[in-house]
Amino acid sequence: MRPDDPRLDPQQTTGVTDMSPVAFRAAAHEVADLIADYLEGVESYAVFPSIEPGSIAPAFPAHAPEAPEQVDAILADVERLVLPNATHWQHPGFFAYFSTSASGPGILGEMITAALGQNPMLWRTSPIGTELEGVVVRWLREGLGLPDAFDGLLTDTASTSTLIAIAASREAAGLEAAAKGLAAREGFGQPRVYGSTETHSSIEKACMTLGLGRAALVKVPVNDRYEMDADALAAAIASDRAAGRTPICVVATVGTTSSTSVDPVPAIADIAEREGIWLHADSAYAGVTALLPDRRAPFAGWERADSIVVNPHKWLFTPLDASLLLSRRMDQLRAAFSLVPEYLRTLDRANPVLDYNEYQPQLGRRMRALKLWMQLRWFGLEGLRRRIRHHLAMADTFAGWVDADPDWERLAPVPFATVCFRYRPAALAGREDEPDVHARLDQLNTALMDAVNRTGEVFLSHTRLADRFTIRVAIGNLRTEPHHVARAWELLRAEAAKLA
Ligand SMILES: Cc1ncc(COP(=O)(O)O)c(C=O)c1O
Repeated sequence: MRPDDPRLDPQQTTGVTDMSPVAFRAAAHEVADLIADYLEGVESYAVFPSIEPGSIAPAFPAHAPEAPEQVDAILADVERLVLPNATHWQHPGFFAYFSTSASGPGILGEMITAALGQNPMLWRTSPIGTELEGVVVRWLREGLGLPDAFDGLLTDTASTSTLIAIAASREAAGLEAAAKGLAAREGFGQPRVYGSTETHSSIEKACMTLGLGRAALVKVPVNDRYEMDADALAAAIASDRAAGRTPICVVATVGTTSSTSVDPVPAIADIAEREGIWLHADSAYAGVTALLPDRRAPFAGWERADSIVVNPHKWLFTPLDASLLLSRRMDQLRAAFSLVPEYLRTLDRANPVLDYNEYQPQLGRRMRALKLWMQLRWFGLEGLRRRIRHHLAMADTFAGWVDADPDWERLAPVPFATVCFRYRPAALAGREDEPDVHARLDQLNTALMDAVNRTGEVFLSHTRLADRFTIRVAIGNLRTEPHHVARAWELLRAEAAKLA
């Protein structure tokens, strides 16, 4: 077929083309305006909209359109149907879960990333995506104060990062799971993974996904500060060994999800070293505070870990998704995931850089480095430190308000920027053991959180600590300022007064 064959003309062959450069440019400007307007006016939305589950889908046509539509019509529906039905994670009153807020340079990075369509699975499928990932990993690793024995990669989420770490721990333990699988294997006892009762559910999910099963996860008890009891860990490992099981990995969490407690990493590292098992440090939320040299005390010992996860998409203002997985044993990650069929074999013989697909379960992967690179340059490490320090100070202030009010009770220490507390009218203080008081406090706080969330001004979430309904205020949104935190406290007190 000749190049001028009419059958190669897209208009002839498909009848439809992508946007012309002119149309794309015009629409892209409109989208830039839409995004800028959204970010500027995000506080005009309820953080969590007052809608019911199932109310959104019926507003959309039941079937995909047969005929092409105009971009203006599509963007009008983004404003009409999408924006009002979103949970506004970008809202400075977002204090639920752990914040994920997207910075301007991060958003711009996502736009360019989408346009370039890079896939850094092999160096040659994205030389820049691959090498920039190495650069960003090194910048972050250094910023966090970790030694250069750590290399790493960017994954989508901490859940994936931890799954990779646990898979690597199996290889490091000599199970050869990647080659031989685990089913019906003779010669070794059931593999065991250890975390505290407070570890994130992603550890358990990784065990489920990797074929270890939830039964493989041993939940070690915590003390009254929700920190893993290292003696209980040692005892659990000893008892498993005595029963013929195979300990492979312990997960120490620096900043647990419910209370942000910090496991005793040095003691856990001693045990891991003595037992010859993999130590994974999960600091998905709190890890970024290690960018502040004077706030590194909670991280003592994490440099002894075999792998560490820190999520820039949580408290480093990076648009979803971006999780940093660091490891001193990249060879074990590779043992767990490397599989190179002929069509992926490259001619880059003396390749000194990583073909990242060999270190993770997926083949195709996003170029996450660009947005991080742009962001790190825009803020500088100093700008990021200042913002995180600001959040830490706001959380301190909030905790002080809770502590000073006899009708409120703080339920955990505040090592980072998340405050766990509940409303406990002074008249009920010390009466928890009385029948009904415990349940009454749970009901009161459930209703309180719901009432505060219904105002739309702030959005809070909860957990259970020592079997008590616990409200959490997690400060981590890029745009949160002291008056937003003060407003949250004002609303809590006002709504509590109505319920009392
Ligand atoms: C300590 C900890 N680990 C892991 C995760 C999972 O993070 P991701 O959503 O990136 O998988 C979370 C989420 O909040 C977390 O708090």
